[in-house]
Order: sequence, then C-alpha cells, then structure tokens
Amino acid sequence: MPKRLYIETVGCQMNMLDSELVVATLRKAGYQLVDHPRQADTILFNTCSVRQHAEDKIYSALGRLKHAKEHHPDKIIGVMGCMAQKDQRLIFERAPFVDLVVGPGQLHQIPQLLDKIAAGAGPQLEVSLDRKSGSRDEVQQSFESYDPLRDPQMRPNRYQAYVRIMIGCDKFCTYCIVPRVRGPEQSRPAAHIEAEVRRLVDEGCREVTLLGQTVNSYQHHDGGRTWRLADLLDRLHTIDGLDRLRFVTNYPRDMDDDLLTAVRDLSKVMPYLHVPAQSGSDRILHRMKRGYTVAEYRDMLARIREIVPEAAVTSDFIVGFCGETEDDFRQTVELVRQGRFKNSFIFKYSPRPNTKAYERLDDDVPEEVKRRRNNELLAVQNAISEELNRPLIGHEVEVLVEGPSKAARKQGVDVEAVEGHVVQLTGRTPCDRIVVFDGTPRQIGQLVSVRIYDVNGFTLFGSVVTQHAGPEVFQLQV
Ligand code: SAH
Ligand code: SF4
Ligand code: F3S
Repeated sequence: MPKRLYIETVGCQMNMLDSELVVATLRKAGYQLVDHPRQADTILFNTCSVRQHAEDKIYSALGRLKHAKEHHPDKIIGVMGCMAQKDQRLIFERAPFVDLVVGPGQLHQIPQLLDKIAAGAGPQLEVSLDRKSGSRDEVQQSFESYDPLRDPQMRPNRYQAYVRIMIGCDKFCTYCIVPRVRGPEQSRPAAHIEAEVRRLVDEGCREVTLLGQTVNSYQHHDGGRTWRLADLLDRLHTIDGLDRLRFVTNYPRDMDDDLLTAVRDLSKVMPYLHVPAQSGSDRILHRMKRGYTVAEYRDMLARIREIVPEAAVTSDFIVGFCGETEDDFRQTVELVRQGRFKNSFIFKYSPRPNTKAYERLDDDVPEEVKRRRNNELLAVQNAISEELNRPLIGHEVEVLVEGPSKAARKQGVDVEAVEGHVVQLTGRTPCDRIVVFDGTPRQIGQLVSVRIYDVNGFTLFGSVVTQHAGPEVFQLQV
C-alpha cells in the first residue's frame, strides 16, 4: 500500500516551491498525497518564522496532533522549513511527539530521513550551520539549494510555476529573520535557470515567476561575464512557448534602469513590480537598516513611472516598528497616499529573536496602537486600490486563466466533471490583478480577453470577449 502524505504549507512563495519539490520527490518514492492529516501516515508542516503569529499557528497545529500520535504511534510527524532552522531542538522540547526537524537547506534528505524513522532510528534533526558558526563557504554549503526535477502534477496549476534564481539574503534588515533561516545570498547559474524554465515550458507551463528574497540583486559570474536579472530576463525571453515572466521580491536599491528597460522592452516580462518600502519615515528606515531614504524610494518610483508607466507597483509596510511615533506613521500614510500602489501588504511589527532589532531596540509601540495603525494604513491603501481599478470598467484585459474561482472551489466544482459547462473561473492580468468571470474549463491555461464590468479593491469582474476580432483590438496592459 502506498504511504500517505499530508503536507501543510505557510509562508512565502519560496515555501510553496519547497513543498512542491518535497512532494514531487516523495511521490517518486511511492507516497500518495491525501487531503486530511487523519488519512495520512506521514504529516509534514512547512513552516515560516517571519512573524510570531506564523509560528504560533504551527505550534497549535502540532498540539492538535498529540492525540493522534498517542493513538497511532506509527504516524510520522515532521517540521520542515524556516521554523525548523530557527527553533531546531526546541521543537522536540515543545512537541516531544515530533519525529523530524529539517531546515530549508536539507529538504533533499527528507525521503531517507523518513525511511530511517520508519525503521526505528528515532527522531531526526538536520539543519544548516548558524550564520556565525563557520566560514562563509561552510555556511553557504550547508544551505544547499534544492531544485531537483519537477513534477508538473504537483503545481497548483500546470500552466504556472515558480523558479528559484537565488537563495538566502545578505541584507540583514534589523527586524528580519530571513537571513538567519535561509542563509547567505547565493545566485544560481543562468544556464541552470534557463534549463529549468525550458523543461517547465515543454511540460506546458506558460507563466514563470522567478523567486529570490531580493530577486533584483541577482548576480552570477559565468563564462567571463556577470549576469544580472535584466540579462537573465533577456535570455529567458527567447524561450518559445513561454508567455509570461514575473519576478519577486525586489529590493528598492537594486531597481536599476537596465532592469526597468528590460521590463519595458521585453513583451513577455509582465509590468508588475513588488518593491517593499517598509516605512515612509527616514528615521525608521534607518533603524530598520533598509539602506535607502524615503526620497530615494520616491525617486525609484518616479523612474519606474517614467520608464514603465503601465507597471503596477506593490509594496510591503511594517507598522509599529521600535520607536515609531505618530509622526513617523503619518509619513508612512503619506507615502502610501502618494505612492499609488496597486496593493500593499501591511504587517504589525513582530520582534524576532536573534535579530538586531530584538537585541538592541525596544518593542515599545503598544499592540493596540500597532493594530490601529495597521487598520488605518490598510483603509488608505484599499481606497487607492479601488480607485486604480475603477477606470478599468468597460475595458478589455488579457487574462491567463488559472482555474475555478475561490467561490467555485468552495462549492466543490470539479472541472473535469463539468467539462463543457459554464463555471466561474479566475486568472490574472499582466499587472497581476485578479479577474473573476464565467467561462468553460477548456479555457484553463489559455490567455483570454475579458471585458471588465465591475471592480472592487481586490478583484475585477468581467465577461470573456468572443475572439473573432483582428489585431486592431485594443487591450489595456493592466
Ligand atoms: N525578501 C522580501 C520579503 C521578506 S519577508 C523583502 O525583502 O522584501 C516579507 C515581508 O514581511 C517583509 O517585506 C516585511 O514587510 C515583513 N516582515 C519581515 N519581518 C517582519 C517582522 N519581524 N515583523 C513584521 N513584519 C515583518
Ligand atoms: Fe528580510 Fe530585508 Fe532580506 Fe527582505 S531584504 S529578506 S526584509 S533581510
Ligand atoms: Fe517565512 Fe521563510 Fe519565507 S521565514 S517568509 S517562509 S523565507
């Protein structure tokens, strides 16, 4: 009988990709994926440490498995990813029934480690070196990149894929745990990336999103030259069958004109740029060690708007960082008002042990103030998001159809069973706006034209335009 695997994933796109790769490897080793931990004999949590809340969720999910483990001691419970790297043995202390703790640099070892546990070897722990406990080379090697062959069936849909172009981070923003749990910044060779994208396209993939914590800091020395992100995009753009390229997340300081020109000139590179600002106050940016001033961030925005005026820009903000006064916060509100971001992710500061902010700065903004600032900033951003969406009413947009909409999935629509019938579908525009419309399952994985008839801050609603018009049809690049 195949072994049954349940996996739960939280965190960023890196984690989604890691889970996909782990599942693909385990399927090759004879595992079958199930939908509920009850049905599984192996349960894995792919974890995130970026905020306390993400960790609390995992520890309480683990707590709920205590009974299951008592009744079925053969069930194997594993914790992988960033919290595994951060908490290491502490996980066994807090949840003694856990069998496996594996950091993001050791994911390739999971099949063997599971075999060992099943054979009675007891709990297993595999993590990378701490950043200070070896030379840069040693630490770097201990965070091995994990990019084996892919299994197209494991992706949320066959038409889109993430491709890692770099791992780790060396920016050390004072609030952030990522450089500790994901290790030193390392870029993959352009040739490897190209080979992976070609394989994905051969398997039917049409949109590739390149991943890196600071994706536009990509730099690889190869064949006597240095490859930057703009060069990589140029190289990937030539791949036939690939329709769309995206890249996340950008670091403001590395948003150079070469990259913006590449976004403008390469038709497959989507006009969508996620460039987190984090704060609108110089004092706070300095305390965060972000490496730029508000004026420099605004200049970068101005360059984006000059070179790629149609691009949608999105951002992240942290409210209630150590020492943030009402005046600092007002400056952030001002940046959000003037920045005209398509959307922003807004987070309440969460102190992370072993970071500079945790060690040296006081977490002195009370929780209710953080909450109020969070809600206020969100309201300002949401109003702008809707304002930016409204002019799209009546226009056509090009959508890569991803699958049934959230509502259709909730109703349990099985696209195979309803082949030929009308279902509510969802997809994204070049600018990464979510569109919901009625269509047929045959359109999944296709680029279709959708005329928008309504919007809110998060979603565009439209109907498919029958495709009989010639190239004179005007489509907004939104
Ligand atoms: N590498 C990306 C994102 C890293 S984490 C970048 O540099 O932009 C994603 C977002 O989480 C960050 O942009 C930041 O806004 C938020 N974040 C990171 N650490 C945090 C913390 N300690 N508390 C609250 N939010 C945090
Ligand atoms: Fe964290 Fe800063 Fe690196 Fe982003 S750039 S992952 S926020 S340290
Ligand atoms: Fe979280 Fe790790 Fe990503 S800490 S945000 S899952 S890199």
